[in-house]
Amino acid sequence: MHQPAFHSLEGQKLVVASHNEGKLREFSDLMAPFAFEAKSAKDYGLPEPDETGTTFEENAYIKAFAAAKATGLPALSDDSGLCVDALDGAPGVYTANWAETPDGSRDFGMAMQRTEVALQEVGAVDPAQRKGRFVAVICLAFPDGDAEYFRGEAEGTLVWPPRGTLGFGYDPVFLPNGFEKTFGEMTAQEKHGWKPGQPMALSHRARAFQKFARARLGSE
Ligand code: IMP
Repeated sequence: MHQPAFHSLEGQKLVVASHNEGKLREFSDLMAPFAFEAKSAKDYGLPEPDETGTTFEENAYIKAFAAAKATGLPALSDDSGLCVDALDGAPGVYTANWAETPDGSRDFGMAMQRTEVALQEVGAVDPAQRKGRFVAVICLAFPDGDAEYFRGEAEGTLVWPPRGTLGFGYDPVFLPNGFEKTFGEMTAQEKHGWKPGQPMALSHRARAFQKFARARLGSE
């Protein structure tokens, strides 16, 4: 049976395979305690690959492997999205696409509105009918094509109108279970809800990163 080689990250530089400013900010916070040398795909001038997969895992691999192959370094990507139960999991892997405008830019005010219109169309007006989750899949890929995956999910309710100006993307319409503030009303630290040594992160990205840190960075 083929046993993939164990790739150590010790003393290695790491590429964060993303061009998304919001994600890069959060990765930089989450990585800070680990004194890792990490640069983004943007710093290396790498192009953004087309996300042609139909799952978060496939798209996370496309991004991480493209960056690992181009730089010869291990690369960490994040593919994420919002999955709304009443919309059969949409926008899901197409969460970023829902924000695309005809001129090719992204408008998240419009994307949140589009989600709200879709919820209204299916008659989802009560909080109980507006449940969903943010999903993040972090892929760690190596130049030889080996890869590992770490998935984090955060359950919550979609609110309208949007609340808060912090965070990015769909944060202002996402109220995580057990909290009274949307992600858009939380500071980055509140949204992550995690420091090494603490039991459970809050956001999907911090939960995925926590798994990565425990598996690969020796974190508690
Ligand atoms: P992708 O991973 O590049 O396909 O993009 C995922 C999209 O999901 C982003 O453009 C955001 O709009 C949205 N998203 C992912 N994570 C978050 C988050 O933590 N807060 C708000 N929106 C998010």
